[in-house]
Amino acid sequence: MSKLPPAVLNVDGKSVELPVYAGTQGPSVIDITKLYNETGYFTYDPGFMSTAACESKITFIDGDQGILRHRGYDIAELAEKSDFLEVCYLLLNGDLPNAEQKKKFDHTVTHHTLVHEQLQFLYRGFPRRAHPMAIMVGAVASLSAFYHDSLNIHCEKERELAAFRMIGKMPTLAAMSYKYSIGQPFVYPDNSLSYSENFLHMMFATPCEKYKVSKTLADAMDKIFILHADHEQNASTSSVRLTGSSGANPFACIGAGIASLWGPAHGGANEAVIDMLLEIGDESRIPEYIAKAKDKDDPFRLMGFGHRVYKNYDPRASVMRKTCHEVLDELGMHDEPLLKIAMELERIALEDDYFVQRKLYPNVDFYSGIIYRAMGIPSQMFTVLFAVARTVGWISQWKEMIGEPNQKIGRPRQLFTGSTPRPYVDLGKR
Ligand code: SDX
Repeated sequence: MSKLPPAVLNVDGKSVELPVYAGTQGPSVIDITKLYNETGYFTYDPGFMSTAACESKITFIDGDQGILRHRGYDIAELAEKSDFLEVCYLLLNGDLPNAEQKKKFDHTVTHHTLVHEQLQFLYRGFPRRAHPMAIMVGAVASLSAFYHDSLNIHCEKERELAAFRMIGKMPTLAAMSYKYSIGQPFVYPDNSLSYSENFLHMMFATPCEKYKVSKTLADAMDKIFILHADHEQNASTSSVRLTGSSGANPFACIGAGIASLWGPAHGGANEAVIDMLLEIGDESRIPEYIAKAKDKDDPFRLMGFGHRVYKNYDPRASVMRKTCHEVLDELGMHDEPLLKIAMELERIALEDDYFVQRKLYPNVDFYSGIIYRAMGIPSQMFTVLFAVARTVGWISQWKEMIGEPNQKIGRPRQLFTGSTPRPYVDLGKR
């Protein structure tokens, strides 16, 4: 980062100079680390609308231009030319791998896909109808009980081993949560398959017959994983960073990220989009739901629309929309009723003043659910798939934070508006 002329804050008759730094792209920052000591004031920014909580080199987003780049590479190019494990290497290491590095990385991840045999008994403690995200939060946070040689966050080797274990094992844990929910036996990873082929194989194979993974669906899955891999300092990534800032082990940190991702305002939106499309049920009812979305007294929001950062089209949604049509055409489902409702909803929303004024465009979650549904994945698994993909982003951001020389525990302050001091009143006198 480079230093710019300082900002000057005038408060209580005092002039305080605050350092200003510029990054390589995006908004510059005003450094307020010394503000409280010099003025006795906190800043106030619920929801972090204008706050940079960290410095990072991993992902750049320009919400007005609809730009998303990982280590300088545009998301549309990565989705078209790369594969998910290559993007994992890029996020973790900062550069695209050469052929030898790619081969070694893929081999290492593949040989970390098997999970400890005891883990199945953790699954068997859940009711079969448990939401798979409940199982994932528990299963991932419990990994520190099984893998003691990748818990020392101050050892680079152990941090790297934890990263390989998380990226390798997430698809296995995710598929196990699906199999458990439908009462089918767990399917072991098959090291002869690619990352996405292996995931679909563990999801849909049974011991009763050979299962051939569709290359089109595996390619679509791989592209969807790329589109969800990382996204700057979103709610779940910020949860991982804040959890990790206390020195918690990497598995507990990813567990915190999964818990945050589950919310319908965040990664849970893809499941909520399908529920919304099913509730709308017919194109004729779209105006009724557009009116509900605009009604301030109605908590209903158009799931899959809007974004804290993108005030332009989410670049991932554009790629996802194209993939959605490819998958539905491949499966001969271009007349899929939900897709027709989704397309009509998108058309109307993009013309309606309420949405246009608020720059509420379709986001990454708007199309993913339709693709997953066409692939035969139940809606309760949609956010689990988001978590599988985002694990590399979480672990990359966690590694970046832990590697900082002056890393300290995150501890926000508050504006207190509660009771002023008052004496205790005995029970008999209340
Ligand atoms: C993800 O942060 C990330 O990067 C997240 C993510 C990632 O990759 O990690 O991109 C993944 O979480 C995508 C977002 C998925 N969520 C949804 O699709 C749920 C529906 N969207 C909304 O909940 C909302 O748009 C948010 C949460 C995504 C963003 O909310 P903000 O930025 O806090 O905006 P806001 O709530 O202040 O809304 C601004 C205005 C309000 O109206 P006014 O008070 O100005 O009149 O827009 C309205 C809101 O009521 N609004 C919506 C709306 N989203 C915002 N109105 C109807 N439907 C919506 N979806």
